[in-house]
Amino acid sequence: MERVEGRTAFVTGGASGIGLGMATVFARNGMKVVLADIRQEALEEAAHALSREGLPVHPVLLDVTDREGYARAADEAERVFGRIHVLCNNAGIGVTGPMIDATYDDWDWMMSVMVGGVINGVQTVLPRIRRHGEGGHVVNTASMSGAFASGIAGIYITAKYAVVGMAEALRTELAGENIGVSAFLPGGVRTNIHQSHRLRPPGLNTGYAELDHRREAMAAARRDQPNAPPTAMDIIEVGERVLRGIRRNDLYIVTHAEFRAGLQARCDALMRAFPDEPIEESRLAFIQGVPTLGYNPIYDDQRPVPPFQNGKPAEVADLKK
Ligand code: NAI
Repeated sequence: MERVEGRTAFVTGGASGIGLGMATVFARNGMKVVLADIRQEALEEAAHALSREGLPVHPVLLDVTDREGYARAADEAERVFGRIHVLCNNAGIGVTGPMIDATYDDWDWMMSVMVGGVINGVQTVLPRIRRHGEGGHVVNTASMSGAFASGIAGIYITAKYAVVGMAEALRTELAGENIGVSAFLPGGVRTNIHQSHRLRPPGLNTGYAELDHRREAMAAARRDQPNAPPTAMDIIEVGERVLRGIRRNDLYIVTHAEFRAGLQARCDALMRAFPDEPIEESRLAFIQGVPTLGYNPIYDDQRPVPPFQNGKPAEVADLKK
């Protein structure tokens, strides 16, 4: 989707962090943006700040796990801004820790938001994008933890692998339509993710209470050292990188070059795992006869990505001429 001006984006988790960064950059580039979030106060604050800049944003209260609520939010978005073109399935919770400490409630809550919420977004909003025929784009916010087992975060990693797989499969299905799909795989970004345990619905049993509080205290300690070198990326830069990915129709939007060795190790391990034995020709012929079974051309779509310079990706500057 090269031209985004005048188009509408629906961003879940849009009241904070990465979602807010994307929303800000989209709106500054001429898009109308619906901020969808479960936190009313944060929504109002974010919408107010962006409106003060004169940007066209509309806040809508949404728990992405609520299917009826999702349909109502999409209706409201269309009433206010007209057709939706870009869906950012971004809402997520950063509760991490060893899987061996997890309770069923931990699994159910995190999977329902981070996988269920993305399923609900695709089920609710994608048909609306397909129906108007003006083209569009879907961004699934995963993480580097969706590309390799990065960090001690079993539930999070499981959820993020799922949304990467979903993005790849959706891109395959939509290849003949004018709708792009990207898996977005950020590394560390300066957001409020360390507070997401506060959104755990009351009454849920958790194995992560101690870790939740330790992580929040560590984030507070970092905030108290404003002159320390940054360990995470700024949300506006991240938003710029996502917008570039949409305009380029990147299969993967990767933000942090620092993770290259980690991902390379996983790719290499997978290739080493193929037994060193001859190919069985009849099996190969069968696999080759079924579209995408043995080879999916979506992977050929991904072009090399130029560096990000002076706060702007060079290619976006070129596109705007
Ligand atoms: P954040 O906590 O600043 O923002 C997440 C937003 O999602 C919050 O405003 C929260 O209210 C909202 N949210 C949570 N549950 C929701 C629900 N059920 N329905 C609707 N909204 C809900 O966190 P951040 O970092 O901006 O996270 C955004 C996404 O980025 C998440 O999917 C996260 O997993 C992913 N991510 C974040 C990284 C980071 O370093 N911050 C790194 C890699 C991925």
